[in-house]
Amino acid sequence: MSQHPNDPSGEAAGDEQTPRSRNGKSQFSKRKVTTNRLKEMKEAGVPIAALTAYDYSMAELVDAAGIDVILVGDSVSTVMQGLETTVTVTMDHMVYHTTLVRRGVERALVVADLPFMSYQVNSDEALRNAGRMVKEAGAEAVKLEGGRVVADTVRRIVDVGIPVMGHLGLTPQSIHKFGTYQVRAREEEEAEELRRDAKLLEDAGVFSIVLEKVPAELAQEVTASVGVPVIGIGAGGACDGQILVSHDMLGICTRFNPRFVRRYASIGDEMQKAFEHYAQDVRSRGFPNESESY
Ligand code: KIV
Repeated sequence: MSQHPNDPSGEAAGDEQTPRSRNGKSQFSKRKVTTNRLKEMKEAGVPIAALTAYDYSMAELVDAAGIDVILVGDSVSTVMQGLETTVTVTMDHMVYHTTLVRRGVERALVVADLPFMSYQVNSDEALRNAGRMVKEAGAEAVKLEGGRVVADTVRRIVDVGIPVMGHLGLTPQSIHKFGTYQVRAREEEEAEELRRDAKLLEDAGVFSIVLEKVPAELAQEVTASVGVPVIGIGAGGACDGQILVSHDMLGICTRFNPRFVRRYASIGDEMQKAFEHYAQDVRSRGFPNESESY
């Protein structure tokens, strides 16, 4: 992997071997990713790579690949729980999955989603729940959705020492309010609100903002207007970084197929073939053979 032109230290693209490399090819820096490091990356123009994970094995693979931020997303609902929306995810679900992910990660920054209604009732409850995510589950930061409405809550969480990532644009926890998962902020009024919300979140102390499914031009403008890294999903190429749901980009989950998902593999097809092959072998008594027996 070559050194990034804007990062003469070579630490983002890296020159050290990771101890977790499976194939001996990983070549990114072992340096632990922190919220400060993400800010430095924005300033140096080094793109930030983020993915989701929900369990130990996936987190270990994602981390070993040099991904900078691992989000334990409330997309756990659609990907792992087989549900249609994120709204029913609970704090206990998120604490459980974050605990699993944390065990598999050495380098990436681990961010956990605060689920719907765990931070909206009042800021005391939000603080307690953010604290659980850090103390019980080992998250290094939490993410929550919304702008003006959550700004005071963000400030309180940040003030006690828990980094907060904002989330604007398409906010899936509000699906019942909006009724669709279509692109947000196409109209000027909503775009203006989004610009204001990004500033409010920055003033409230977020270390980063996820921008989901908004026009690329607007995302570019917002990215340039704030000092914190903006991580896009369906928000064009000008954001400071990108995030995808791992199961979508791996082709494990294929029922959800928005155009912003690039499929980097067809692992779902591979898995199904392997399961079928195994079933055939068992039925034909081809498995186990002598060397697989005692
Ligand atoms: O829950 C999630 O996976 C997310 C990403 C889509 C940003 O919030």
